[in-house]
Amino acid sequence: MTKQSIIAIDGPAASGKSTLAFLLAKKLGYLYFDTGLMYRAITWQALHKEVDVSNESEVTKLANETVIEVLPSSVEDGRPCDVIIEEQDITWEIKKPVVEGSVSVVAAYPGVRAALTAQQRRIGLRGNVVMVGRDIGTVVLPDADLKIYLDASAEERARRRFSEMQSRGESADYAQILAKVIERDQIDSNREVAPLKPASDAVVINSSEMDIDAVLNFVLGLLK
Ligand code: CDP
Repeated sequence: MTKQSIIAIDGPAASGKSTLAFLLAKKLGYLYFDTGLMYRAITWQALHKEVDVSNESEVTKLANETVIEVLPSSVEDGRPCDVIIEEQDITWEIKKPVVEGSVSVVAAYPGVRAALTAQQRRIGLRGNVVMVGRDIGTVVLPDADLKIYLDASAEERARRRFSEMQSRGESADYAQILAKVIERDQIDSNREVAPLKPASDAVVINSSEMDIDAVLNFVLGLLK
């Protein structure tokens, strides 16, 4: 059906990138790889080890030492994969607001990015992969066969994250989620290394008025 072997999907917080990438990978029989979970896992590890997230050198050291295992999901609770650090299942822990509150600070450290980018590139270059993040098309896999930049208004993205949290039975406050989404985008877009932006050859999709099926069908159309 398709010759494209490396697909890069980037975009701001809660734009639906992960859902799109997961469905696309399933449809194509490709590996789904969410790079955001690696930045989240290092942030979780820093909080867990009581390392001050504003201590760049300590956090960078952690990023170089920590083995993040991403395995096929072992529990049917809606997770796309298991995320394990030191035998602890942190799959849902890394989605929590406490991690989300610090992840963009951690992800802005050049040494953290260097450590994680190298691992991501090694996996991506094997091919048959849908990789999702902020800098996949621009930095991690600049020669990707297809690059998508999935956007949506901040309000719509906050609404989606709100429903996601509610469906997991977590307490959620829309106004707070919106403020946090905007704050994270600001940090991600303005950092010096690998800022969030569309690659010059990316197909930009604004999904504010599209549901996930419409986005998926549009992307499948691009692959034909
Ligand atoms: O799912 P959501 O869009 O909310 O976030 P995510 O994709 O899990 O990414 C969490 C955070 O990790 C982002 O806000 C970025 O700060 C960072 N990140 C990054 O810097 N580069 C990537 N390739 C992926 C994530």
